[in-house]
Amino acid sequence: MEFKDQVAIITGGAGGIGGASAIKLAEKGVHIALVDLQSCEEVMEKIRAVNKNVKIIEKLGDIRDKFFVKEVVDETVREFGKVHILVNNAGTAARVDLEEMTEELWHRDMDTNVKAAFLFTQAVVYPHMLEQRYGRIINISSVSGINGGVLSGYGSSKKGRSGVAYAASKGALISLTKWVAKELGEFNITSNSVAPGGTETGITKGLEYNFDAQVIKRMGTPEDIAEAVCYFASPKASYTTAQTLRVDGGVDIG
Ligand SMILES: NC(=O)c1ccc[n+]([C@@H]2O[C@H](COP(=O)([O-])OP(=O)(O)OC[C@H]3O[C@@H](n4cnc5c(N)ncnc54)[C@H](O)[C@@H]3O)[C@@H](O)[C@H]2O)c1
Repeated sequence: MEFKDQVAIITGGAGGIGGASAIKLAEKGVHIALVDLQSCEEVMEKIRAVNKNVKIIEKLGDIRDKFFVKEVVDETVREFGKVHILVNNAGTAARVDLEEMTEELWHRDMDTNVKAAFLFTQAVVYPHMLEQRYGRIINISSVSGINGGVLSGYGSSKKGRSGVAYAASKGALISLTKWVAKELGEFNITSNSVAPGGTETGITKGLEYNFDAQVIKRMGTPEDIAEAVCYFASPKASYTTAQTLRVDGGVDIG
């Protein structure tokens, strides 16, 4: 009952972690706005299968565009009346080292992974979450945002490296998470990050991992990450803010 008739906006909703988070929240009765560049039809079908009572909207477009972001939030509030949960999940990773990094790729990753999270956070808070004195903002960062990225270790090939812009953007996302937590805590709006390790989704397709540096010797599943999203999204998680929860099988814990 705790989530019943809440409303969530989830970016990257067609993808692995966004899709799994949407399905888990929908199971709990949350109405969902899925946002992506690609069709979310497959995820929408799965949502209907787990809970036919929740309403879904799909918004296709580029989250780096502030006009699109505003349109998503406006339409969500028009359709559902409110927005309680924001999951800034869509992300891109140019697996490129310092020397080969281009300005174009740098901007693509920074804008998708950080700027869009800023734009969505601003648009859901002002005025909606602020007026209702309630909100749960969850940013999907990465272990790369904590440890500066993976050069070697569990990425066994050069392709497995996480990329300089990716690492920088995911670190910035953690700082954005904390800033928002500090500014909005007094309004009962929490802001937290989830930092996944290697997880089986589109973004890791074709990469080979070795699990020597991990305690749990497998890749994460999108559902593993979605569990953490659901915790931070819960009305009961009202005393947890500014945190980053690693869901990474225990990488580099000494
Ligand atoms: N899979 C992993 O190993 C892993 C590890 C750490 C962090 N993450 C993070 O998890 C998040 C989700 O990624 P995933 O692993 O589910 O990959 P994914 O490729 O399955 O999903 C990413 C989704 O984001 C969408 N997207 C990308 N750019 C967009 C844009 N400009 N506008 C709208 N939608 C856009 C894509 O179309 C895709 O559906 C990302 O932020 C990623 O960095 C993933």
